Amino acid sequence: MDWPSKVVLVTGASSGIGEESALEFARRQCSVVLVSRSKEKLERVAEKIRKYNSQILVCHCDVSKKDDVKQMSKTVLDKFGRIDILVNNAGFAIYGKVLDLKLEDIESQIATNFFGMVYCTKAFLPTMLEQKSGHIVNVASVAASFGIPGIASYCASKFAMLGFSEGLYHELKGSGVGVTVVSPIMVRTNFFDHQSFRSMPRYSPMSLSSKTVAKAVIRASRSPRLEIIVPPFMRGAVWAKHTFPYLVNPILGNAFRNAMKNKENLS
Ligand SMILES: NC(=O)c1ccc[n+]([C@@H]2O[C@H](COP(=O)([O-])OP(=O)(O)OC[C@H]3O[C@@H](n4cnc5c(N)ncnc54)[C@H](OP(=O)(O)O)[C@@H]3O)[C@@H](O)[C@H]2O)c1
Repeated sequence: MDWPSKVVLVTGASSGIGEESALEFARRQCSVVLVSRSKEKLERVAEKIRKYNSQILVCHCDVSKKDDVKQMSKTVLDKFGRIDILVNNAGFAIYGKVLDLKLEDIESQIATNFFGMVYCTKAFLPTMLEQKSGHIVNVASVAASFGIPGIASYCASKFAMLGFSEGLYHELKGSGVGVTVVSPIMVRTNFFDHQSFRSMPRYSPMSLSSKTVAKAVIRASRSPRLEIIVPPFMRGAVWAKHTFPYLVNPILGNAFRNAMKNKENLS
């Protein structure tokens, strides 16, 4: 891969997996576009990246807003004239039972996690197709394969992302443009800072570092595969769920319901 010639855009680049992915691309001397809502946080990330001498563009943009994405993509394409790797990573979750969540809580997760990815994909796909090259990396989650009590709407946004990506993957076969989904388990980031997660255990001993996931994003950006699950052994769990749903679903449902009850008792 001729990394230094690549223009890479990472949404949700102001922290966690997005920040670490942007750093990994910059280490490879790619030109990097940093996208999120907070200009201040992005400038802090840009400062870290400057030492790698890669070109940087900071774009503050709310990916859940069509017009913001339109403006941001125009700025990017005016500056670089191309886009090689689009990492749709911006996302968040609100914890709570469907009964207790406000409709707006559910809508906002779908708006950012799913429609944000759709808007960015629609904004950059025509250029990738004209180039006859490019790769879209969508950061989903293992929650794209398991409906988990307490984060049902987050799971819905990630199931939708995986389904959309699979359809697009088939549509783009032979075009030179690829799509790969990265689906990690829990990652130690600011993700759980949302107040709805208070009194929840923030990380499990299995939690990954954002660097581990960023390395998977790098692999994904040149992979012919539809989905990369991190860590790889979790692929077995996804296979088991699809192969033995009557066995696996009740076990998982019970485990997560118990976690939910523990949270209720603690709060
Ligand atoms: N942490 C985990 O356990 C875990 C596990 C599996 C998958 N994931 C997925 O990984 C992705 C990154 O999450 P993370 O763990 O790195 O969490 P994080 O540290 O909280 O980062 C989330 C990023 O998304 C940005 N963002 C949120 N809403 C946005 C919007 N409307 N427009 C633009 N940017 C927005 C945030 O920046 P601003 O606030 O500056 O906008 C931030 O840069 C998410 O899609 C998440 O679903 C996380």
